[in-house]
Amino acid sequence: MTIPLSRRVRRVSLSANAAAKLKTTALREAGRDILDLTTGEPDFDTPEHIKRAACAAIAAGATKYTPTAGVRALRQAVQRKLSGENRLDYPLAGIVVANGAKQIIFNAFAATLDEGDEVLVPVPYWPSFPDIVRFNDGTPVFLECPLEQRYKLTPAQLEAHIGPRTRWLILNSPGNPSGALYDEAELAALAAVLRRHPQVLILLDELYEHVRFDARPPQGLLNVAPDLQARSLLVGGVSKTYAMTGWRVGFGAGPEALATAMTVVQSQAASGASSVGQ
Ligand SMILES: Cc1ncc(COP(=O)(O)O)c(C=O)c1O
Repeated sequence: MTIPLSRRVRRVSLSANAAAKLKTTALREAGRDILDLTTGEPDFDTPEHIKRAACAAIAAGATKYTPTAGVRALRQAVQRKLSGENRLDYPLAGIVVANGAKQIIFNAFAATLDEGDEVLVPVPYWPSFPDIVRFNDGTPVFLECPLEQRYKLTPAQLEAHIGPRTRWLILNSPGNPSGALYDEAELAALAAVLRRHPQVLILLDELYEHVRFDARPPQGLLNVAPDLQARSLLVGGVSKTYAMTGWRVGFGAGPEALATAMTVVQSQAASGASSVGQ
């Protein structure tokens, strides 16, 4: 029998990263010497103290369902991290945890996009951004950011692409795959454009914030434009910082109404993230 597939699933393909990973794994198993750059896998192992904490959590019985938005102690830890390290204050109700940053992004788009809503995606991009948009009925709008502009979005480009259907801008800094990092002046210039378009939500993917070659404290859009916090979703996680890609823990911080809607999506898609990982 031919399985009738939904329009939704026909709009997307197996994550390009996952597909490339399958290929490199198969080649490796066939004995080929492969340098695998397909997925963003850190080159160190999950630190020992984290592994020990997970074993202790299992021994202590932390093996049951967790609250849909994440266990309180982890959400409080995220709250402390954001205020201490990123100098951004959030109420606990604005902080949600999911199965990786990917599910946070999925939940956000599932909770806010209707058919035809546009999401601005600077190019080059992490391949899942546009597919998650498409899966959730949105339309990705690509903004080419070539080497000549150091793979970064310019204010003029942003202004030119915002239209009546623009629902979100994705800003991924440090960027995957380019590594591009926006500086304060660039962020301030983008913020000035965004202030002229109060209907646009901003997805700040800072998953790679600790993969840096200098020791400066992280500087994000919301540090230079705190007024945009009320319509931004800050996305982070443990995958890259602590080499915990397989543990599936990510977080989002944003307006309470968005966090609540994302929790509704999470509750029907997966329930709370893994107890042991959290
Ligand atoms: C830019 C970016 N955002 C989000 C993710 C998803 O990360 P996670 O493992 O936390 O789901 C990745 C993974 O590679 C990524 O590169």
